[in-house]
Amino acid sequence: MKILVTGGAGFIGSHTVVELHNAGYESIILDNFSNSEKKALAGIEKIIGKSVKYYEADINEPSTWDKVFSEQDIDGIIHFAAAKAVGESVEKPLKYYRNNIAATVLMLEKMMEHNVNNLVFSSSCTVYGEPDSLPVTENSAVKPATSPYGNTKQVCEVIIKDTVSSTKHFHAISLRYFNPIGAHESCLIGELPLGVPANLVPFLTQSVAGIRGQLAVYGNDYPTPDGTAVRDYIHVVDLAKAHVSALDLLLKQPEGNYYDFFNIGTGTGSSVLEVITAFEEATGLKVDYAIKPRRDGDITAVYADCTKSKEILGWQTQKSLKDALGDAWNWQKKIS
Ligand code: NAD
Ligand code: WQD
Repeated sequence: MKILVTGGAGFIGSHTVVELHNAGYESIILDNFSNSEKKALAGIEKIIGKSVKYYEADINEPSTWDKVFSEQDIDGIIHFAAAKAVGESVEKPLKYYRNNIAATVLMLEKMMEHNVNNLVFSSSCTVYGEPDSLPVTENSAVKPATSPYGNTKQVCEVIIKDTVSSTKHFHAISLRYFNPIGAHESCLIGELPLGVPANLVPFLTQSVAGIRGQLAVYGNDYPTPDGTAVRDYIHVVDLAKAHVSALDLLLKQPEGNYYDFFNIGTGTGSSVLEVITAFEEATGLKVDYAIKPRRDGDITAVYADCTKSKEILGWQTQKSLKDALGDAWNWQKKIS
């Protein structure tokens, strides 16, 4: 089975290409390297021991899709390619609406035209906003988006659902990722943040590596056990495996259309201070941090109930927070 992986050179995409290979799928990568580097391809090839076919092209170009679909017999798509910086999306909303929404619409049109009927979409726990109760299940309310980026995930979920409803044969799954962290244990692929990382774990590892200054802990006055905000940090390899489970499910669907969405997290919430402690335990290193004011737009706490993923996808995480932080650190040492 041949799977087109848009954004396959990126953080989550590269790990997913490896897991697809481990599960017997062939990946074709489509990426314009706007937020990734070609060395990710070399890393993937080293891990899987074979070359990977890739197209360096933009998902916004109709000709990209025509070329790929005419040259490859694609059974399904995993659609990672998107812009993902929440802050930038406030500054440049149209970039996000074009790259994340318009390109997804184009992809769906081209899938219809070329009779490619299976799609896994990268959604996000950001759709839940500040949840009314925890953990969040798939029945928890979707809250009004607080950034253009968050809005693109909500809108794309709806676009995909409506598209499925309008056909007799299209299958799609949206995966709502919680906070992906870590790297492949080989240290051959991992996250390559551009500039100063906004996310906790890449900033923390760069701070410990001496690339950045002290880590700011944004707020210790949240209504949580230690006052710092709580998230569900998932090892990127566990997250990658969820895509294989989703594809397996799509490809075995009987005649007819199918749409569903799943939480992909660990089910455990960890505070910022708990992440720091787990990092110190995993690596034996000290983190230099200071408590600073809350960051605008941050929510107090979100973590997943993953019962539905376990029951329907047959997927659950295998790695711990310490595994993820240890792998994140080993990757940081490799790239520093
Ligand atoms: P990433 O930036 O590392 O990967 C995205 C890849 O898509 C990059 O390689 C980039 O070059 C490519 N790309 C972007 N625009 C493109 C275009 N127009 N044409 C072709 N390629 C293009 O991001 P990631 O962390 O791997 O995230 C993957 C997906 O998961 C995104 O859709 C993101 O919104 C979603 N997501 C990420 C997180 C997270 O915290 N990392 C959480 C929830 C959801
Ligand atoms: C985690 C916690 C910060 C940096 C973002 C996006 C979301 C999703 C994942 C895609 C928060 C605290 C952080 C730092 C800190 N992506 N923190 N010091 O905010 O949960 O989610 O990435 O869909 O849409 O909004 O992740 O890693 O930025 O922050 O104290 O230097 O760490 O305040 O509590 P977040 P994060």
